[in-house]
Amino acid sequence: TSAAVMVDGILKSNIISTQLIHTEWGGVVPELASRAHQKSIIPVVTEALQKANINKNELNAIAFTRGPGLLGALLIGTSFAKSMALSLNIPLIEVNHMQAHVLAHFIEDPKPSFPFLCLTVSGGHTQLVLCDSPLEMLVIGETIDDAAGEAFDKTAKMLGLKYPGGPIIDALAAKGNPQAFVFPKSNMPAYNFSFSGLKTNILYFIQKQQKLNPAFVEENLNDICASVQYTIIESLLMKLKKAATDYKVKQIGIAGGVSANKGLRSSFESLGKQLNWETYIPSFEYCTDNAAMIAIVAHYKYEAKDFVDYNVVPSPRATW
Ligand code: KG4
Ligand code: ZN
Repeated sequence: TSAAVMVDGILKSNIISTQLIHTEWGGVVPELASRAHQKSIIPVVTEALQKANINKNELNAIAFTRGPGLLGALLIGTSFAKSMALSLNIPLIEVNHMQAHVLAHFIEDPKPSFPFLCLTVSGGHTQLVLCDSPLEMLVIGETIDDAAGEAFDKTAKMLGLKYPGGPIIDALAAKGNPQAFVFPKSNMPAYNFSFSGLKTNILYFIQKQQKLNPAFVEENLNDICASVQYTIIESLLMKLKKAATDYKVKQIGIAGGVSANKGLRSSFESLGKQLNWETYIPSFEYCTDNAAMIAIVAHYKYEAKDFVDYNVVPSPRATW
């Protein structure tokens, strides 16, 4: 649950309440997520206003995430935003979660110029997005099955690690050898990705090795994490490089939860240097889900007077 206050494109607060309950279950439990949002939303919004030193009566508009996401969770935010906008008699702004990940690059300076190409890698999506302006974006490629974050999380689960596994694999990979084991890279047509094959490959690999040595995972944990992480990063950067070359774009960014990955951040930076790109990576707190990125989209939509009717409903499978 997260709330942010923004004044004329300048971020004043960004409060994030992380739901730790899902760790016990090894993944997000939709019902529990909605309940946790219901419980946190008023304290989080109150804290965001307090920290920004803004009274709710001073607000000019309210923005909310309409989708994509889990319906129950979206309903909490949508209903709350509608009620607040209605009671304050101010405009309501809907925001697409994936567009917000891309515009996270516009929260802080230096901001990219256009055309800008962004690789968005999160728990639910893997997209290559070409932007001509903050509100003009085109998804030119995406995963046909699992998202990059899912590949991290599912690998972690197979290795007996906690949820979310991405940050844990990141930390263990730093101590391992990325060339220790070879896994197949995703190579889909055009600018698309696929990570479900990798998942199956890792599963069979572990099962085979454990037959020979039951302690294989424990003894090789860092190397397995480093090798899997390397495979995911290579698969992502291969397509990013292809898209940047074909579309002749030099302003390039990565966004979404997986862009917090240290291995991806450094490989992306070195590729950028090699290809003469201007590279952009949001600060850690704007990579994983946060309200500041929703606020920055709302800032541009407010300027464009792009408001939505109070009768709006969530859109769990929203595309754009
Ligand atoms: O963008 P995000 O916070 O939520 C979604 O919109 O899905 O992304 C969450 C995903 C999870 O799969 C998590 O494991 C992954 O981002 N993640 C990471 C790292 N930090 C978060 N993956 C790899 N390395 C990290 N350091
Ligand atoms: Zn996200």
